[in-house]
Amino acid sequence: MLADKRILLIVAGSVAAYKALELTRLLRKAGVRVTPVLTAGGARFVTPHALQAIAGEAVHQELWSLAGEAEIGHIRLARLPDLVAVVPASADMLAKMAHGLADDLATTLLLATDRPVLVAPAMNWAMWGHPATRANMASLMARGVAVAGPGEGAMAEAESGPGRLAEPAEIFAAIASLLGAAPRALEGRHVLVTSGPTHEPIDPVRYIANRSSGKQGHAIAAALAALGARVTLVSGPVAIPDPAWVQVVRVESAAEMLAACEAALPADAAVCAAAVADWRTATAAGQKMKKVPGEAPPPLALALNPDILATLSTHARRPRLVVGFAAETENVMANAVAKRQRKGCDWIVANDVSGDVMGGAENAVHLVTEGGVEDWPRLPKAEVARRLAARLAAALAEGVSA
Ligand code: C5P
Repeated sequence: MLADKRILLIVAGSVAAYKALELTRLLRKAGVRVTPVLTAGGARFVTPHALQAIAGEAVHQELWSLAGEAEIGHIRLARLPDLVAVVPASADMLAKMAHGLADDLATTLLLATDRPVLVAPAMNWAMWGHPATRANMASLMARGVAVAGPGEGAMAEAESGPGRLAEPAEIFAAIASLLGAAPRALEGRHVLVTSGPTHEPIDPVRYIANRSSGKQGHAIAAALAALGARVTLVSGPVAIPDPAWVQVVRVESAAEMLAACEAALPADAAVCAAAVADWRTATAAGQKMKKVPGEAPPPLALALNPDILATLSTHARRPRLVVGFAAETENVMANAVAKRQRKGCDWIVANDVSGDVMGGAENAVHLVTEGGVEDWPRLPKAEVARRLAARLAAALAEGVSA
């Protein structure tokens, strides 16, 4: 399956660069053609000779030496591979990628490529945890860059923590799954995604809301679009950027979200990741409610909101595959299985939100289908999204909902 694939392997400056040699060996053993690119920092940790010998291909190091090779050497090189992998990706490399710097061959290739990109970060735990690196990673992941690792454990400086390069076998598996995903598997399909919270007005300035950030739903929309789907993303108010190549419909309340979803039908599939408020205020005040000194607070009468997932699941124009989420803080699995029955959807993605999931970068989910329950490991939300999009593409291709 990997035999006719080619990857551009960028080796950046980190003591973990030696592991790129082992990765190269694994890739070549699987028949993958590896074109190595070594940064100046990378060359301080591994020699071009070692990399070249294991890759069986010339190592590219200099931006300007490519100029004579063809009319536009670096553009051609950027578009040759099926995937660009940065292993190890140093903090400096991630920062350059996030900001679009192109001051050497590797960063120029990364800016010029239209191929999928995977990074395997490696750095000291303090650098990995720094807000600058956090922001750079969030920005890269929002753009669809895939991430392998990092792991946690002993570091070169006799310290320990998160930031350790993932093991070569783990990076190999991530590369294999990216290369193996059928490209454009959702071409011609329309998928509806809901994301974010809803705001239910109390009066013109106050509302009831919840902690949903929209990160998981937006990542799902991006992953579906990456597989070629036409995606309508109906989003409640969120503070994160719109995913690329997705049609975004912004709404505030559950009622608006339902109307936007119905207007988006027909769709081949729907993924309801929004944290829709269960209740709205029975009547929203037309003017700002005034606090009157000495008076008791006004009562807040609530009314039940429409259930968008249940409505889509029983709709006359029901999408062939309807996927719901179950955010729970207790009895996660039992509630998810019951919810799948009750709502009439095909799959439920269940997650425990008692920890730092809401608003966080990672998610640990269980996929509940007709066939049973699958436990997925704790993964970046973008990776959960990619796996879900691949499953959804496979299910639509098979014409079944299991
Ligand atoms: O019932 P509960 O809110 O736990 O169900 C969660 C699932 O139902 C999510 O997929 C969410 O998007 C969807 N939902 C909905 N409309 C509601 C409430 C929940 O679509 N009013």
